[in-house]
Amino acid sequence: MSFVIPGLPRNPVASLDARLRGHDDGASPAAAGFFGPACLTILIGYGHVEQGAIPRQDGAFLPGPGQEVALYEVAYHARLPVMVKGPTGCGKSRFVEYMAWKLGKSLITVACNEDMTASDLVGRYLLDANGTRWLDGPLTTAARIGAICYLDEIVEARQDTTVVIHPLTDHRRVLPLDKKGELVEAHADFQLVISYNPGYQSLMKDLKQSTKQRFAAFDFDYPEAGLEAQIVATETGIDAGVASKLVKIAHAARNLKGHGLDEGISTRLLVYAAMLIKGAVEPTEACRMAMVRPITDDADIRDTLDHAIDSVFA
Ligand SMILES: Nc1ncnc2c1ncn2[C@@H]1O[C@H](COP(=O)(O)OP(=O)(O)OP(=O)(O)O)[C@@H](O)[C@H]1O
Ligand SMILES: [Mg+2]
Repeated sequence: MSFVIPGLPRNPVASLDARLRGHDDGASPAAAGFFGPACLTILIGYGHVEQGAIPRQDGAFLPGPGQEVALYEVAYHARLPVMVKGPTGCGKSRFVEYMAWKLGKSLITVACNEDMTASDLVGRYLLDANGTRWLDGPLTTAARIGAICYLDEIVEARQDTTVVIHPLTDHRRVLPLDKKGELVEAHADFQLVISYNPGYQSLMKDLKQSTKQRFAAFDFDYPEAGLEAQIVATETGIDAGVASKLVKIAHAARNLKGHGLDEGISTRLLVYAAMLIKGAVEPTEACRMAMVRPITDDADIRDTLDHAIDSVFA
């Protein structure tokens, strides 16, 4: 693999990292967005739950022409549980973070996986030197403090785990802690949000209808071309013309979905490519590295996309 990297900083990784943290002079305010210490990730399954925090927001979510922001606000005010569906890297998490910021609510995010148990969500007794003590899980914490609880990739969780959200997501708004013998009444500000990528899950992994039918849903997709270019430019500080070229390549690749590609190139990957280009990687090389190699192992598809990149940057 040949790299053409004119003027690459001595430590490109450190430079990128600094830019992500907003410590680099060239950082756009948006690039510093959600990467600050206030960005909250809850680790589950490690007996460790942090209190929620209102996400930082530096204008880092660019809304589309749709009504999703206004509609979410209405759903929140009615305390309806919300489901956000769409392909990977299209802006679902960014939207939820933005809405939590806009509404001034704390956000507790849980990355779901198939090993997750109901106890990981609601809490468990722990043994320590002083005997046993109860530790609330992230869902219980959110219900008590009135945070927005965001269960990311909910279909990854087993169905017997998912059903713990049922009493919280209907008119009851309660969470029974069976092991503790406590019924937690959700705080008035509490809201549950789930997200998933439709199409990835097997039938076994799909949500039960009784779970689905507890939510109002948003269908997300990649932003339209002009907005996506604007997002890439705002996120990375890259030139608008280059951002448009990245979007053009993404559109070519997205047409291959179902014809050799399982999934199109995400907005996230366009941002990665733009970051590499900002880090002085030659554009065609940056596109190959960030937009083609991660999504396919098929030699024919890879060559097709490589040619598309060469022609767009010719
Ligand atoms: N509307 C938007 N405004 C600003 N940035 C966006 C927007 N949409 C996408 N992005 C960019 O795309 C990246 C990926 O978005 P995000 O993490 O929200 O994807 P996601 O849909 O949650 O993906 P996954 O399903 O893999 O979790 C963000 O970090 C951001 O750089
Ligand atoms: Mg996400």
